[in-house]
Amino acid sequence: MHALGIDIGGTGMKAAPVDLDTGTFVADRVKIATPRPAVPDAVAEVVQKLVDTFSWSGPIGITFPGVVMNGVTRTAANLDNAWIGLDARALLSKAAGQDVRLLNDADAAGVAEMTFGAGKGEPGTVFMVTFGTGIGSALFVDGVLVPNTEFGHLEIRGKDAEARASERAKTAHDMNWKQWAKNVNEYLEHIQALVYPQLIIVGGGISRQSEKFLPLLTGMHARVVPAAMLNDAGIAGAAMSAHPGSAAPVRAGAGATANPSLGTAARTATSTTGDRGLPGFPSPGLPE
Ligand code: BGC
Repeated sequence: MHALGIDIGGTGMKAAPVDLDTGTFVADRVKIATPRPAVPDAVAEVVQKLVDTFSWSGPIGITFPGVVMNGVTRTAANLDNAWIGLDARALLSKAAGQDVRLLNDADAAGVAEMTFGAGKGEPGTVFMVTFGTGIGSALFVDGVLVPNTEFGHLEIRGKDAEARASERAKTAHDMNWKQWAKNVNEYLEHIQALVYPQLIIVGGGISRQSEKFLPLLTGMHARVVPAAMLNDAGIAGAAMSAHPGSAAPVRAGAGATANPSLGTAARTATSTTGDRGLPGFPSPGLPE
């Protein structure tokens, strides 16, 4: 079963058809720069272009770099404010020519990593963080997602964490790896002190160069590992959310075998919305 995943980012919009059993791409991904200003109609036009590029007619899942509740986008830190309060799922469904699923980008990346990547089979508290234009977060407890966490906007020393520790901040302030790693370290220490994860998965574009900054981190009790799917996790998670046979927009453990090491409680846990539980799978409870 294949689905098209589209990842709307603050800088680029990427798409690829994904094999839902393996999380791998079945064709090369296509990337188009996010239009500026990133107003809804302009972004929707690019979504349409991406769908056309693949002549796609199957299921489609789309990520958004902000809070998404019941298809309505609630924040838009790195896109135009016109997204706030918009029925974005309706707009993007119209652009795609069919119903789409819509979810937060870091949540999507996290679900893909928990299913196929660095978090596979990991019980307890797992924190996924993406460093890109912004900082995205996804929190899992025994494989079940707590959706729409916004830990990228923690205030640290009077500033939004994103302003110091995102990949964009590194470029904008011309920080070297050591300087940036210091900010990332400070940020992850705050996360550690607030949610005590046993595993932190680092994703986003910069995870491709994780060897340049992960070894510089100190004082972490959590294991800190790069995302196995690097920056492709968002696209994979987007596609997973569109699984047509699923009552849930995304299932952590949606591969052929769910996380076998997760306890029964985790696998049968019901979502925060209470209606998305799937027998045998943890439901991440995305409030789409
Ligand atoms: C947004 C998050 C998003 C992250 C990464 C932040 O600015 O508030 O919702 O996940 O950027 O795109």
